[in-house]
Amino acid sequence: MNTWTHTTVLLNEAIDALITRADGLYVDATFGRGGHSRALLAQLGAAGRLLAFDKDPEALAEAAQIRDERFSIRHQGFAALGELPPASVTGVLMDLGISSPQIDNPERGFSFRADGPLDMRMDPTRGQSAAEWLAVADQRQIAEVIRDYGEERFAVPIAKAIVARRQERGPLASTAELAELVAGAVKTREPGQNPATRTFQAVRIFVNGELEELQQALEGSLHVLQPGGRLVVISFHSLEDRIVKQFIARHSRAVVDRRAPFAEPAPTLLRALARVRPGEAEVAANPRARSAIMRVAERTQAPLPANHRGGRA
Ligand SMILES: C[S@@+](CC[C@H](N)C(=O)[O-])C[C@H]1O[C@@H](n2cnc3c(N)ncnc32)[C@H](O)[C@@H]1O
Repeated sequence: MNTWTHTTVLLNEAIDALITRADGLYVDATFGRGGHSRALLAQLGAAGRLLAFDKDPEALAEAAQIRDERFSIRHQGFAALGELPPASVTGVLMDLGISSPQIDNPERGFSFRADGPLDMRMDPTRGQSAAEWLAVADQRQIAEVIRDYGEERFAVPIAKAIVARRQERGPLASTAELAELVAGAVKTREPGQNPATRTFQAVRIFVNGELEELQQALEGSLHVLQPGGRLVVISFHSLEDRIVKQFIARHSRAVVDRRAPFAEPAPTLLRALARVRPGEAEVAANPRARSAIMRVAERTQAPLPANHRGGRA
């Protein structure tokens, strides 16, 4: 039993935005340690249901503590939520990224602060670890990942250093080795930030396919949300938030058919409702909340266009 805990971000704000009726079916796409799920269950009525997803076996172990017939969880990536029956869900919540226990436990390999195996998988039972990927990827691919997912100016020198080290002394095995190598390749420091921050974020996003899954899950939510149902997404860095923001904007904008410019525009699928940031008190109590941005949208009455390309498997 470990002692790592997770302080839920925007707890009340997310639940208030999500719940429109007490007897609906809700999806918590990112169970974590269940902070949002427990608060949601406390507000649902006897006929309400909550289906959760998480990739992390430790999240599943925590979920096993919840003995409530209205609750179930799947050990699956949340991109699969688009496979639920069409228009069956009253609200979808996504609290993106990693949980505090994942980052605080050095054995998970997410952190440059404490040494551990270079893993970074949310689901360590599947896929390639960060060490396995960095042992085989070519320099160009490593540089692209670090540049695109870490927005790191020194992506090329970092990738070169990783490949050179691999050739000289064998592949990187630990988080401390990667952090040290990156620190040597990053020439200018950002105040208050560890030089490895951007590289660790980038490798983690790549290893877990985070942005692709997010895009698929957002598309899937259009299929599964009932009219009036809510989509609530909390993101923690600009790449995620940009995807969420653009997705909501794209589906909230009336599309005029260029071949028939005077015809009624196609009805929009979403209505943007809110953008919420944590208050000063929450950030003071939980510094990990400082970069959080929550976006809320509502599924309109409009049927999906026949040619809509969703993320359904
Ligand atoms: C920020 S935490 C959620 C915390 C949770 N709201 C709470 O209050 O305890 C994010 C969780 O989502 C999971 N996760 C992230 N991306 C996922 C994905 N694509 N599919 C399933 N689970 C994912 C992570 O394993 C982690 O447990």
